[in-house]
Amino acid sequence: MSGYPWEKAVEKKMKILVVGSGGREHALAWKIAQSPLCAELFVATGNAGTAKWNVPIKANDIDGLVKFAQEKNIDLTVVGPEEPLSLGIVDRFQAAGLKIFGPSKAAAQLESSKAFAKTIMVEAGVPTAEYRTFTSKEEARAYIGQIGAPVVIKADGLAAGKGVIVANLWEEAVEGLEKIMGGAFGSAGDQVVIEEYLEGQEVSLLCFCDGKTAIPMVAVQDHKRALNGDLGLNTGGMGTYSPPPFWTKELEKEVIETIALPTLEIMRKRGTPFVGVLFLGLMITSEGPKVLEYNVRFGDPEAQTVMVLLKSDLVPILEACLTGSLNSTSIEWFNDAAVCVVMASPGYPGNYRQGIPITLPDVKTKDEVIFHAGTKIEGNKLCSAGGRVLGVTVRGENLSQAREKVYRLISQINFPEAHYRTDIGLKGLQEGRTIT
Ligand code: AMP
Ligand code: GLY
Repeated sequence: MSGYPWEKAVEKKMKILVVGSGGREHALAWKIAQSPLCAELFVATGNAGTAKWNVPIKANDIDGLVKFAQEKNIDLTVVGPEEPLSLGIVDRFQAAGLKIFGPSKAAAQLESSKAFAKTIMVEAGVPTAEYRTFTSKEEARAYIGQIGAPVVIKADGLAAGKGVIVANLWEEAVEGLEKIMGGAFGSAGDQVVIEEYLEGQEVSLLCFCDGKTAIPMVAVQDHKRALNGDLGLNTGGMGTYSPPPFWTKELEKEVIETIALPTLEIMRKRGTPFVGVLFLGLMITSEGPKVLEYNVRFGDPEAQTVMVLLKSDLVPILEACLTGSLNSTSIEWFNDAAVCVVMASPGYPGNYRQGIPITLPDVKTKDEVIFHAGTKIEGNKLCSAGGRVLGVTVRGENLSQAREKVYRLISQINFPEAHYRTDIGLKGLQEGRTIT
């Protein structure tokens, strides 16, 4: 250092590692790669869309990831999926003196145990559905008999988004209980949460958190069912759009004040502060917003829509979460709409075919991105290699324009027999929508 004043302005260039291999991780890597702070990027294990950054270490191989981060002197690791978080990847990295973005194992229980999440909601006075937890199938069955349908049955532990049964009939509820407690999700179903069915508009609000402050991202609506018109089986998410027409600044303020901040306060009081992305799965009911679930990470495919709308550099925001300085960080968003349509393999979410060759058009604008999820390169050819394969994402002046652009881009993709919904974002355009 020679001490020239401008040297201070040159921030350290960072080596950044993204953990995960889905569409969410491609979106995070795409955004981080644009940061002037990022000198070198790695994705473990990534997909064909992140090929130039990929390292062959699995997201759950925590020893392998710690070793890699130490050897490469990684300055910041960003975790995509819930599983490594619930296995304690953050605690392990921190113990090794490595900087990592995400909640500790204790804080990640907000997602890894639905019973724990409910306890926190009650302690924090956060509005949510009435519920009870059971470890006895007989008692759970009796309770369903008592409250009747519609009712919601949830496996306590992680079940890849499939451990929730919304039962309209008593028979469906009992069948769902048998499935969950009968071992369909292994030990994740040893305990169940049975809760009141809530009606309203569902919305995902992801918040950057530094333990004390929560800054919301743009609100997003997911489309969880496989088929148009919200029909068919539940999936990991078939598409997202933002902003939903019913979302207002007042609603956002209410959610931050009555849900996000009380949750952070309780976690802090328990000695397990929440740092990372707190994803609030909300139902906007006639009584106001209520929490359906917490997730402790970016959503997939929420992240794809959120990342194309984020105007600010992501890296300083992640750093501010880690240094507890979010309250002095400003975050800018494009005042636009965005849509992400997931193109899935034929058969998804059931048994699906893999290895289908795909040809993509050249996309030259920054507001249209084809994010990869289940893809790989096989002998120089791009092929499908998973259930959700692509997340075609665009930004437009308004929702109607974004929808037109996204489906135009899809028409240029050659992915034979791809399964995708043609109504992503359509519910955001329907007039006269009220919150029931
Ligand atoms: P979860 O993983 O808890 O978000 O549940 C998965 C999906 O089930 C949610 O996205 C909702 O569509 C639905 N769901 C969960 N809890 C309820 C509830 N109490 N009332 C109505 N629908 C629910
Ligand atoms: N799209 C919902 C999730 O990521 O859990």
